[in-house]
Amino acid sequence: MALKITVIGTGYLGATHAAAMAELGFEVMGLDVVPEKIETLRRGEVPMYEPGLEELLRRHVAGIDGSSGRLRFTTDFAEVAAFGDVHFLCVNTPQKHLEYACDMSHVESALASLAPHLHGPALVVGKSTVPVGSAERLAAYLAEHAPAGDDAELAWNPEFLREGFAVDDTLHPDRIVVGVRGERAEKLLREVYATPVAEGSPFIVTDFPTAELVKTSANSFLATKISFINAMAEVCEAAGGDVAKLAEAIGHDDRIGKKFLRAGIGFGGGCLPKDIRAFMARAGELGADQALTFLREIDSINMRQRGQMVELTRQALGGGPFLGKRVAVLGASFKPDSDDVRDSPALNVAGQIHLQGGQVTVYDPKGMDNARRIFPTLGYAGSALEAVRGADVVLHLTEWREFRELDPEELGREVAARVLLDGRNALDPGVWRRAGWTYRAMGRPTA
Ligand code: UDX
Repeated sequence: MALKITVIGTGYLGATHAAAMAELGFEVMGLDVVPEKIETLRRGEVPMYEPGLEELLRRHVAGIDGSSGRLRFTTDFAEVAAFGDVHFLCVNTPQKHLEYACDMSHVESALASLAPHLHGPALVVGKSTVPVGSAERLAAYLAEHAPAGDDAELAWNPEFLREGFAVDDTLHPDRIVVGVRGERAEKLLREVYATPVAEGSPFIVTDFPTAELVKTSANSFLATKISFINAMAEVCEAAGGDVAKLAEAIGHDDRIGKKFLRAGIGFGGGCLPKDIRAFMARAGELGADQALTFLREIDSINMRQRGQMVELTRQALGGGPFLGKRVAVLGASFKPDSDDVRDSPALNVAGQIHLQGGQVTVYDPKGMDNARRIFPTLGYAGSALEAVRGADVVLHLTEWREFRELDPEELGREVAARVLLDGRNALDPGVWRRAGWTYRAMGRPTA
């Protein structure tokens, strides 16, 4: 009989995972403790912007015309326990308030709610990003609190999806990593992932700590690449070099690779910043902090980029205070194709200038509602053209395709001064300069 799957936590990761499991042909039940979230998903709606996710959901959510009916939602732990063979834990693990460490309370409470209902054989699979050592502790908890005892097993299967590509990353993962203790868990997970594996995704079986560490080290490496190129941008800026050319040239070396070498205002979002901090905190607890001291520098280079963008803006306006200056900001989300503004470098820069007296107007294709919610005192516009109207300087801070397709001539007619600061190194300097703009980007020549 085909496996039945449940997904506990239907936020970003869980909603995508649940829909993808239904797409792979499984009967799926998603659970969330927030009833409004469940109501939204039952209507086939997605509470965030993620390309392709709503279509995928609507293809499977029970009760929607023409759907496969394989995907259902509930708020009841007893129901998911009775329904599923494999239970994926997809709750979030945010940074703790005023601490670097990761907040495990959602994972712990999800497991505490599920375990007492597990009366027969079950596999609980953690997908959340957790400090190394968590899986072992959670496995002991499960064995103690599930009536099924040792028949209720735990496995760790980190998730590597990127926002904006969540559906594709979930259906066609680069690799599938499973931390298991026994053959049964491995066998079940091979069954779950049979389709992506048949299509070529490598399936890597390992122990709990390695599986947990694969995720944190992958994110730390990506963060390291970005801060490395931003450090090179600082040197290029001082020496009169061009960091974009430098990145292109070093990227031709396969060992370095072209990706994640775009200099600018740095990384943000709900994962990279908090994951490297939690990794440092955990390494400290383990007495291995010396090994990761460089991550502190990665974090600080990253945060410094935001301040440098503010200073570049000040210089472009002639130096001195921002008071009375009109600053247009294109971009609010932490990256394109996402409405997520968590730890967004764009919004941080906009906020700093606003708090120093600048008159800031922000436009983002999808992130406006979230930005307004967390930063209601900024000015917001309904389009890029409206945002730049009368601006003394235009900041390009999230590299949406819509911004790359802007016509510099048309935009130029709206501004008080044709000055563009590209915080993402994503626009073509030649095109903008030919249209009479002063184009500046961090780590690139001024003309
Ligand atoms: C990241 C990891 O990529 C993913 O594997 C993991 O599962 C979750 O964390 P995500 O947070 O969606 O995914 O964003 P990502 O695409 O990695 O970008 C992170 C940030 O880095 C963005 O703010 C982006 O603008 C910035 N970035 C990326 C750069 O500044 N330069 C680059 O060259 C690449």
